[in-house]
Amino acid sequence: MLEVLRDRLVEEISAILREWGCASAVSPVPVEINEYGDAEKGLLASPVAFQLAGERNQPPAEIAAELAETLSSRLDGGWIDRIESTGPYLNVYVDDDHVATETMARILDAGTSYGVVDDRNWSAVFEFSSPNVAKPMHIGHLRNTVLGDVLANVLDAQGYELIRDNHIGDWGVQFGHMLYEYEQADDTERFETEPITYLLDLYQRYGTQEAELADAGDEDALEALRDTGRSYFARLEDGDPTLRERWEAFSAASLDRFKETYDRLGVEFDTWHGESYYVIESWTSQIRSEALARSIAVETDDGAQIIPVFDDELDGVESPETADVRTDPIDELPDDDDSYGSLVLEKRDGTTTYGTRDLATIAYRVAEGFDELIYVVAEEQREYFQQVFAAARKLGFTDVTFTHVEYGMVDLPEGSMSTRAGRMISAVAVLDRVHEEALSVVQENYPELSEDEASQIAEGVTLGTVTFENVDKRRTKNSTFDIEQATSLEGDTGPYVQYAATRGVNILDRVEQSVPDPASVADEAFNEYDYQLAVELARYPLVLEQSRERYDPSPLVQYLLDLARTFNKFYHENRVIDDETVRERRLALVAASVTAFEAGFELANVPMLDRM
Ligand code: ARG
Repeated sequence: MLEVLRDRLVEEISAILREWGCASAVSPVPVEINEYGDAEKGLLASPVAFQLAGERNQPPAEIAAELAETLSSRLDGGWIDRIESTGPYLNVYVDDDHVATETMARILDAGTSYGVVDDRNWSAVFEFSSPNVAKPMHIGHLRNTVLGDVLANVLDAQGYELIRDNHIGDWGVQFGHMLYEYEQADDTERFETEPITYLLDLYQRYGTQEAELADAGDEDALEALRDTGRSYFARLEDGDPTLRERWEAFSAASLDRFKETYDRLGVEFDTWHGESYYVIESWTSQIRSEALARSIAVETDDGAQIIPVFDDELDGVESPETADVRTDPIDELPDDDDSYGSLVLEKRDGTTTYGTRDLATIAYRVAEGFDELIYVVAEEQREYFQQVFAAARKLGFTDVTFTHVEYGMVDLPEGSMSTRAGRMISAVAVLDRVHEEALSVVQENYPELSEDEASQIAEGVTLGTVTFENVDKRRTKNSTFDIEQATSLEGDTGPYVQYAATRGVNILDRVEQSVPDPASVADEAFNEYDYQLAVELARYPLVLEQSRERYDPSPLVQYLLDLARTFNKFYHENRVIDDETVRERRLALVAASVTAFEAGFELANVPMLDRM
């Protein structure tokens, strides 16, 4: 609802500026939303007078006063209480009753599509999760998956036409190593019974051999081992039927396991084009011919083909408007090899790299006609992606927008390496530990519940916990996942918010009557706690807008925490059912709050619990 008021204000101020002949001095017109209850400032305010001072050659305070007067004569009644200037600021005070009634009416009318933008005018591939075959999903992939899913939901609700793509890491020289180890092994029947552990074993056997040879300083044997691995990968890429068949079995086993985790999280994808897709469908060979034809790639001394990307080509490379790369053919590498980074397009044995496959992926997605390619990938790959985007621009993909949604690391307080094998703790292990902790909280609060019931609620709490824990910080911040604290009912946690929403549901369950129409009960007198809650509800669409603009779901999650706090305050300070004078209107407010929680939970992938 506040977005409507903001838009109305922007429109009217813009019109006045046009009449004054100074519209060009400001664009867009800034309008801020203040906290409810700040008596000195209006709920909406604009610092626009600052920006006009130069153009009008007048002190900002005078401009603000003039604007306030003109605006007052044009916008009066309805949601406006009064418009004033305070120094250089323009303050717009709203009629709390009007805003509360309109907000409730809008929410109850829209249901869980409150805040959703209908017209879709922008299409994107939204790539997230992307774990690696033969390795478990780790705590980093968990953050990626949870954060990516919530962000995808927000973009989907904000006018994006999205394809959710899981870009599985299912290709690369490591499969050559594993296929070689598989042939060497005398225990391959274990693959049938415990595929996941077995694959990880194969993976580690190679690593161990490599480390041993390196420790022994046996360079020749080390090189021979690596060559063997590489040759298996080359054969896989060339389509060797036996190796392809084994690789497919490896992939299928891992995917099955990943899917269990996605089911548990309630996360879905539209496509599962892993890296292999672009090799098998020849997109990598096309991109190589294209690069050679345009002389964008050069051959190095040892026979690899690389695309040099110069440091000064990286700036602004994400947007078609600001990208600026050189496309003239190059036939040899500059001597100064500090000025550029190399994206290896083809290794000397003719195989593809991670980078080749990413370029091929771009070619495919551009051919499919998407406006934007969004990558949810850890921040460690920032430089890499800039290079890939620059190389893609050189290859002629000039119109598409690239967005790398990067995020910081998550750690457990004791570190995220599982000590035994020195690898990252798995996503499943994290979920299980959260579940265990949540279960003990539930059982403590409801000793009468059966094991099954308690466990079901605990799984709902687990999802709430995991979303809040992974999303509430700005996405670029590193964070520590303290499971005990994250499952607590107090503090900035998912369970705290779920609990507030459940309270609302319980009130509505108790009254067993239909929700009153906000307009018909508008004369019942609200107090500041009611208004504060209503204004909080009115903010929601702005929050989605902000999340979209920043490619960050944390404003949404932060908002849900604020809503829970405001709702709890309202609940503590006010009586709902037993206050005859304002009962009906408060019921409408509770119903609107529950709907807003539902809408936000749907996007944030947080289950609404009837009981907790
Ligand atoms: N599989 C990779 C990993 O786990 C992430 C893939 C990122 N996406 C991409 N298009 N390169 O680190």
